[in-house]
Amino acid sequence: MISQKMQDAINEQINAEMFSAYLYLSMSAYFESISLPGFAHWMQLQTQEEMTHAMKLYGFLNERMGRVTLKAIAAPQTDWKDALDVFEAALAHEQKVTGLINNLMNLADDEKDHASKGFLQWFVDEQVEEEASTDAIVQKLKMVKDVPGGVFMLDKEMAQRVASVPTEEK
Ligand code: FEO
Repeated sequence: MISQKMQDAINEQINAEMFSAYLYLSMSAYFESISLPGFAHWMQLQTQEEMTHAMKLYGFLNERMGRVTLKAIAAPQTDWKDALDVFEAALAHEQKVTGLINNLMNLADDEKDHASKGFLQWFVDEQVEEEASTDAIVQKLKMVKDVPGGVFMLDKEMAQRVASVPTEEK
């Protein structure tokens, strides 16, 4: 059985992950609108990853005999200045999510909830990866900022992203 506090916090995190999915889908739609299909594809896969994160929390809460309660998902931003602006926003968002995961981990500590701590460690590690992969793209976009056609070259690279293979833990 999970504590009420922990249950409420995990329900909040399910909402935050669903919002992340929604935000990245909005970014994907923006890239479609400016004819950058590779970037749009990358963001669509990111959307799927965020859904996986939400479902992982959903499964855990049910397993702990908690009660999943879904709330409204806020409307995401729909327009940005350019590709760099999008990825800077994505990085800032991931940094915010890292803070939320850290708060959840602190709560699990306070509640002496070892099962939640063990479970949440996966998210702590995942956030390191999420921030690093997003930042790598921010850096590349900065490098090609003044190169004619640079963003279109990068778009081809972004199109190569493949979906991560779901595993038992995912
Ligand atoms: Fe679910 Fe991108 O963190």
